[in-house]
Formats: sequence, structure tokens, C-alpha cells
Amino acid sequence: MRVLVTGGAGYIGSVVTEELLNDGHEATVYDSLYKGHRAAVDSRAQFVQADLMDAEALRRALKENRIEAVIHMAADSLVSESVYQPAKYYRNNVAAGLSLLDAMRDCDVRKLVFSSTAATYGEPDRQPIAETDPTNPTKPYGETKLAFERALRWFERAYGMRYASLRYFNAAGATEQFGEWHDTETHLIPLVLQAAAGLRQDIQVYGDDYPTRDGTCVRDYIHVIDLARAHILALQILDQRSAIYNLGCGGEGYSVREVVDTARNVTGREITTRIAPRRPGDPAVLIASSEKIRRELGWQPEFQDLRVIIESAWKWMSRHPQGYGK
Ligand SMILES: NC(=O)c1ccc[n+]([C@@H]2O[C@H](COP(=O)([O-])OP(=O)(O)OC[C@H]3O[C@@H](n4cnc5c(N)ncnc54)[C@H](O)[C@@H]3O)[C@@H](O)[C@H]2O)c1
Repeated sequence: MRVLVTGGAGYIGSVVTEELLNDGHEATVYDSLYKGHRAAVDSRAQFVQADLMDAEALRRALKENRIEAVIHMAADSLVSESVYQPAKYYRNNVAAGLSLLDAMRDCDVRKLVFSSTAATYGEPDRQPIAETDPTNPTKPYGETKLAFERALRWFERAYGMRYASLRYFNAAGATEQFGEWHDTETHLIPLVLQAAAGLRQDIQVYGDDYPTRDGTCVRDYIHVIDLARAHILALQILDQRSAIYNLGCGGEGYSVREVVDTARNVTGREITTRIAPRRPGDPAVLIASSEKIRRELGWQPEFQDLRVIIESAWKWMSRHPQGYGK
């Protein structure tokens, strides 16, 4: 297929593009580089540097590359920033998304895989979370992702546009070529590895008195290659219907302490932790069930083991100590 990847210069988008190309698809990356990196764009892909709000550039990219489907990953995704700057999140995650959908409609492109988030569920009582569980986002980030998902339903009704929405928690790990490098890093695994590399002094652990196996919060981590493959697999369902799928690690998740201990083990470095108070709105456990996508699409994560995830991230970081640079 000829696929447009929005946000393809970002962390997950770089790997989605690489995997698409490895599978023999054609990929066009559409990214403003406002956060991503030119060096994260696979050299085999077409590249368009433009914003989603630029309707003309979008239409040109869709037409000139004869795009058949879009994988939409461009977004703002800093959860705590979204609380202080909600308009930014509505603008980029909803309004800019609508600009993309309008351009797709104009160019008769009717298939979209959307990189959503399990933050759409908020703080559910039941774990692991299923697609049928209520959505009740507690932060503008999750709220705006859910708003876009809802818009997709109405675009399907109005224009026959099919979508697959993928809801997941923490992408992690790297390929040989591409890894995670955000200017503002909030994700645990890269933070822990930065501490191992001496790029930061220590790691704050928010609460060690949760009702979990070691008192620290338990979260869901998925290898970025497994995530990328799920996005590509989801393109298939669009021939038949729209769908929403959770992507989860499939097991019991990993605690903060387990992540730190595994990182110590993999890197052979000391990683200093500091216990800080619990953060408001941080549930003890957050894990998503992947039962539906395994059953319906045969998704089989290959790199689920935490050690494998951290090893790949550490290898990439060791080869790219400055990340993608500026
Ligand atoms: N990283 C995670 O753990 C995670 C978890 C769940 C969902 N997601 C979702 O996956 C997607 C990708 O996440 P990521 O961590 O790779 O993010 P990222 O910040 O690394 O990449 C996002 C990319 O989108 C581009 N972009 C943003 N707004 C744009 C716009 N208006 N026009 C053009 N380009 C624009 C940025 O320049 C960047 O390259 C996001 O939609 C995010 O919400 C990520």
C-alpha cells in the first residue's frame, strides 16, 4: 500500500515507517519537525515537511504520492503539559486532526489508522482494561484523543471513512536505526537509561506504598516494533470495517522498581532512585488487554520481555549518545 505517516519523524512514527518499508509498502512521512527529527525519517521514505494545519500541503502530499491509507501519529502527547495548556491539545490533537480528515475526504482517501491512547480510559477500576470498559479521561491529552476518535465515527457516517483506533500506554525500546529521543522526556525507560548514562543524577519514584507487589506503580510497556506491526496489521481490517483495539503487554505489567532493577542489570550501571510522594491521579496499576486484537487480527507481540525492551533501548542510546542531536 501507499501510506502517509503523519508524525513519521517522531519516535513511534519512525519505526512504523521503517516497518512499512521493510514489509514492501511505500511510505510518505508528513511531519512539521516541530518535535521530530529529520534523521529519524527512514531514507527510503518520501518526506514532506509541513504542518497538519496546512490543508494545501496535505492535499498535495496525498495526491502526488497517490496515498491509499493514512497512519496518523502526529500529536502533542505530554500528559501534564496538557493540563496547563488544554487549548494547545485541542488545537493539535483535534483541530489539526480534522484538517487531515478534510484533506483525506477531498482526495478520496478513506482509510485511517489512528494512534490513540489508553489514557482515553482515565482511571478504570478494572485491570486489564478492555475496549468495552468506559472511557472517562482525566486529562486533556486523553480527552482530546477521545474527541478525535469520536470525530472518526461521524466521518465514517458522513463519508464512509474507515478507521482503526489503537489505544495503548507506553511505547518503549528501539530498532537498530531508530529510538526514543524527546527534548522533554517524561517516559520512565528513557529517563532511567539517561540516569544510567550519567545524563541525569537520579530518578524520582512517585510512591512506594501502593498495593502492588513491591509498592511501586505497575505500568504497561510495549516494544515499539510490536506497536508498529500492530499499526500495519490494523490497515487490513479497514477493507471490512472500522474497529477499536487496545494494545497491552499481555502479562501483569512491570513495576517502576522492576524497570529500574532491569535497567541496572542490563547496563551494569548504578541508577540512583529517590522516593517522592505519590502524584495525584496516578493509579496503582494500568494495563491494557490485547485479547481482542490477538483474536481478530492475530497480533503476536514478539518482544514483550522487559529485558529485551530495555536492552534494545540501551543499545540504541549507547550508539546515539546525543540522540538525533538538534
Ligand atoms: N510514546 C508513547 O508511549 C505513546 C503512548 C500512547 C500513544 N501515543 C501516541 O503515539 C503518537 C506518537 O507518539 P510519539 O511518542 O512517537 O510522539 P513524538 O512526539 O515523538 O512524535 C510526534 C511527531 O508528530 C509531529 N507533529 C506533531 N504535531 C504536528 C503537526 N501539527 N503537523 C505535523 N507534524 C506534527 C512532531 O514533529 C513529531 O515528529 C502520538 O499520537 C501519541 O499520542 C504515544
